[in-house]
Amino acid sequence: MTTAATPSLPIDFSRIPAARLPAVVHSAPKAELHIHIEGSLEPELIFELAARNGVPLAYPSVEALRAAYAFTNLQSFLDVYYAGASVLLKEQDFHDMAWAYLTRAARDGVVCAELFFDPQTHTDRGVPMGVVIQGLKSACDRAGRELGLRAELILCFLRHLSEEAALQTLQDALPYREHFIGVGLDSSERGHPPEKFSRVFTRAGKLGLHRVAHAGEEGPAAYITAALDVLKVERIDHGVRCTEDPALVERLALQGTPLTVCPLSNIKLCVFPTMAAHNLPALLQAGLMVTVNSDDPAYFGGYLNENYSALLQAHPAALTARHAWQLLRNSLQASFAPAAVRQGWLQQLDAHFAMAAAL
Ligand code: HPA
Ligand code: ZN
Repeated sequence: MTTAATPSLPIDFSRIPAARLPAVVHSAPKAELHIHIEGSLEPELIFELAARNGVPLAYPSVEALRAAYAFTNLQSFLDVYYAGASVLLKEQDFHDMAWAYLTRAARDGVVCAELFFDPQTHTDRGVPMGVVIQGLKSACDRAGRELGLRAELILCFLRHLSEEAALQTLQDALPYREHFIGVGLDSSERGHPPEKFSRVFTRAGKLGLHRVAHAGEEGPAAYITAALDVLKVERIDHGVRCTEDPALVERLALQGTPLTVCPLSNIKLCVFPTMAAHNLPALLQAGLMVTVNSDDPAYFGGYLNENYSALLQAHPAALTARHAWQLLRNSLQASFAPAAVRQGWLQQLDAHFAMAAAL
């Protein structure tokens, strides 16, 4: 079970009190495994790109757009999110969006970011696949060179569209196969079970691509089981509704399947009423390989470190320094980076906590 992990050096976690913990977590090395790059588009950049590309917007100002970020569920968010992405037209636009996120992530101690992108949101507007992928990829490569941040791309299929459309999307992306490491499944979950995408995930597996899927955010625990059994995913995105099936919780713990949980997103989209009611501490307690992520930081009120802070603040008794270390460790361990690279990051993490405990 993942909670039983021990650090590579002795760390006296009791010497890191709650008051100091957020600062220690903020400067710690960490991975972000659930970030929709279109969800990092801040209102200011939306307006800048709209002006640059002559795209009309339904909102008169940055403030008016931000005021529309009051969501009641996943769909109410997706409607605004797809409208925001309509300003992206040129390779430079995709580069600028990803670069803005990556520079922000580097300040949060992110050493590894695996970015989701939704090609269909763009190709359906006439933007060529190559423009999307090459714009994003050049920002990822630049992050490696200039920020020392390993950034990779995961191509997501929109589950409210057909499997035929997903198959065509994968086909269209094949000339850029070396630019992305995996496929995912996002957008409206309810009524669009994983089984709908069995053929395209099989195809992706044959191409040697990693596989992940959103499941158990708004959809039932059965969608998590189907994502594992039918789509053969290696990680579950969200997955917080797994607790509705105790046998599934046991399976996830035994297999060590990572869950990429997004606390602020879950509150904004009313999956949980408050952060104090979030089940992340319970998931960790159950031995699951839980990670913390930002999902759509421009829309949900915080980047990665703000997600950690909000959690720690709402769960001071359940989330101690040892738990924070475990969450950070899980994020690095659950990344798709090669084992030797992950090992180096884990050692940096342990050194960081050992230093903090010695202060
Ligand atoms: N869930 C499903 N689809 C999404 C999300 C999400 O949280 N963010 C962007 N697309
Ligand atoms: Zn998501």
